Amino acid sequence: MGEDIKRNNDKIPFDENNYTHNIRKAGERRLDRRGFMKTMVGAAGIFAVSTMPWGAIAVKELTGLGSKSHPKQKLANANDLKIGEAIEFAYPGEHDAALLVRLGENEFKAYQNACTHLKCPVFWSKEEGRLVCPCHHGFFDVKTGKPTAGPPQRPLPEVVLSKEQGAIYATGVKRYET
Ligand code: FES
Repeated sequence: MGEDIKRNNDKIPFDENNYTHNIRKAGERRLDRRGFMKTMVGAAGIFAVSTMPWGAIAVKELTGLGSKSHPKQKLANANDLKIGEAIEFAYPGEHDAALLVRLGENEFKAYQNACTHLKCPVFWSKEEGRLVCPCHHGFFDVKTGKPTAGPPQRPLPEVVLSKEQGAIYATGVKRYET
C-alpha cells in the first residue's frame, strides 16, 4: 500500500498538471530572441525616421524652394481669346483643370481651378470680374488668385505663363506661399 502511494507520487507532476508540457523550450527561446531583435530593429527604424529632417523638407516645399519642373505647354494663340474671355485647359497633368483668362491686350492670368475649399471647379465670371466657386459661394481675385470671400482660405495655384510669337504657354505652377 505504502509502495503504491510512493509509486503514484512518482508520477507527479501528472500530465494534466504539467503546464509546461506543450512548450518546446529551445524553440520558444529562439522565437523570443527573434522577436526581441525584430522589436529592436523596428524601434531603430522609427528612431531613424523621426530624426530625419522632414520639417526642413516640408518648409522647402511649401516655400517653393523645392525645384519642381513642369513641361512647357501651348495653351492658345493670344488672339483666340477676346479680352474678358477665358478658356479651360489641363496643366500640368491631364486631370489638373485650369483656367486661362485674358484681362487686357497683353494681360493673361491662369490658375488651377480646383477650389481651395473643397475642390469644386472655379469659373471665371466676366460680369462680376472675379473667379467664382458656386459650391459654397467662394470668390477669388483674378489678378492674384487670392480668396476674397466665402470659405476658401488659400489662393488658387497660379499657372506661370509666357508669351512667344503670339502664343500663350504654361511653363509651371507657382507654389503656395504662406
Ligand atoms: S468648394 Fe469652393 S467654396 Fe467650397
